[in-house]
Amino acid sequence: MAEGIGLIIGSGVAKLGLEIQARSPTKTPYGEPSSAVLRTRLGGSPVLCILRHGESQRIPPHLVNYRANVWALREHGVSCCIAINAVGIIEVSGFVPGTLAVPDQLIDYSWGREHTFDDGSSGPIRHAEFVEPFDPVLRGRIAAAATTTGRSTGRGVYGVTQGPRLETAAEIERMARDGCTMVGMTAMPEAALAREIGLRYAICAVGVNFAAGRDAEGIGVHAQLERYMGDGMAKARAMLERLMPEL
Ligand code: HPA
Repeated sequence: MAEGIGLIIGSGVAKLGLEIQARSPTKTPYGEPSSAVLRTRLGGSPVLCILRHGESQRIPPHLVNYRANVWALREHGVSCCIAINAVGIIEVSGFVPGTLAVPDQLIDYSWGREHTFDDGSSGPIRHAEFVEPFDPVLRGRIAAAATTTGRSTGRGVYGVTQGPRLETAAEIERMARDGCTMVGMTAMPEAALAREIGLRYAICAVGVNFAAGRDAEGIGVHAQLERYMGDGMAKARAMLERLMPEL
């Protein structure tokens, strides 16, 4: 593939253990991205990162400047973008907290976010093709690298909720009926914006809890979340180190 590789990393970034070599503060026509574009190396390869929730992890999912984030990566020469997203698990066989999944579909329940670059001024209306919301080749590569980290799954339907609150049990039931197998708050509009500007994009989801009503213990057990986030991020790092030299 040999192209500029970018990462958009969500919650739990500290546990990924990135060594930042340089920071490039960036402005875009859509405002400032969540963080500077951070230069790091993984698996011996240069990688450019944006921290979706900011360097101090304070930007909630509904206030992330998704447009600026994907734009900034592309401006820095990224053509292939891997997103790392913590999710709650609704139902995927083999996907348990602390492990990875690579969704192949999504359903968007978010609202009120700046979800397109099309402001009506750039000529005829264009409808981004989105049958497959994630780049199938990149997805396959991530899934293959993830299997080497132990249990992982190469499929799943990511339901995108608005947040920042978590869901009710009934909302998760409805999402399960819709076909969602995992729930998170940040895949959209990120995936669609990446498609609009021609970035190859796929998600590596890190399961950090069972979704609301799906676990007898409940999901508010903070220590448990921390542990699963740590386990999952260690696997995400191993996946990335394996994958990068191949891209
Ligand atoms: N719901 C929504 N987003 C999430 C969850 C969840 O249970 N866990 C991690 N991100």
